[in-house]
Amino acid sequence: MGSFFLYLIMTNSKPIGLFDSGIGGSSIWSAIHELMPNEDTIYLADSKNAPYGKKSKEEIVALSEKNTEFLLNQNAKIIVVACNTATTNAIKELRAKYDVPFIGIEPAIKPAALHSKTQKIGILATKGTINSELFNKAVEIYHDTTIIEQIGYNLVELIEAGEINSPEMKQLLHSYLQPMIDENIDYLVLGCSHYPYLMPQIREILPPHIKIIDSGEAVARQTQNILREKVGFNAADHKSTNIFYINANPNVLADILEHRYPIEQRDF
Ligand code: DGL
Repeated sequence: MGSFFLYLIMTNSKPIGLFDSGIGGSSIWSAIHELMPNEDTIYLADSKNAPYGKKSKEEIVALSEKNTEFLLNQNAKIIVVACNTATTNAIKELRAKYDVPFIGIEPAIKPAALHSKTQKIGILATKGTINSELFNKAVEIYHDTTIIEQIGYNLVELIEAGEINSPEMKQLLHSYLQPMIDENIDYLVLGCSHYPYLMPQIREILPPHIKIIDSGEAVARQTQNILREKVGFNAADHKSTNIFYINANPNVLADILEHRYPIEQRDF
């Protein structure tokens, strides 16, 4: 009887809301959708304002609030900040202002530092993430590990433009990763939700013994935990609806999603 009662309380048919500065956070959406396929989702790609990584903290907080309010107006039961730059610069402010649970995404320094045998790891992230207080506090915890930080200048812009396979992309990646290889890293942390879309290109450059970590699965598991503990899941037999909004040209996002989901272009 008790567990039946608990089940009733914890059922919640509202959607999971996610936002990113653009299309990259769809890598996080994929991990969440794979783990919880019957949850409804609303994904917001703020591509018009990408990249966030070059903006000031104040600008990133204002954009994150705008996105949060859009998702709350769509009845989101939880908000996944599917952007490292927005998380590391704005999640504290979002949690203080809105009465909804937030899940953030941060570069996965911890598993890389704990498993590294060379005690050297590389991190590729945006300028906004690498300069943030939250990121630097996380780095300080692992002072026994040498952490080679590299700003991924121009990578988000090229991905947003659909230039994932361009010679310029390959040349940039090479210039960012070769110094890390030379330093003998054995883990590379992808600290931006756009970067998992570069996995084949990065894999081609890195020697096979260097492992690549991104945060998608960890964020999906954390979202599942909070739904279980505090928010509630949709019914187990529910067939999910997945809505994507973008405020710029939808073509690259459509390609990434393999044209399997409708995308609405809307100004927000
Ligand atoms: N996907 C965002 C992140 O995870 C990209 C940030 C940007 O727009 O610069 O950091």
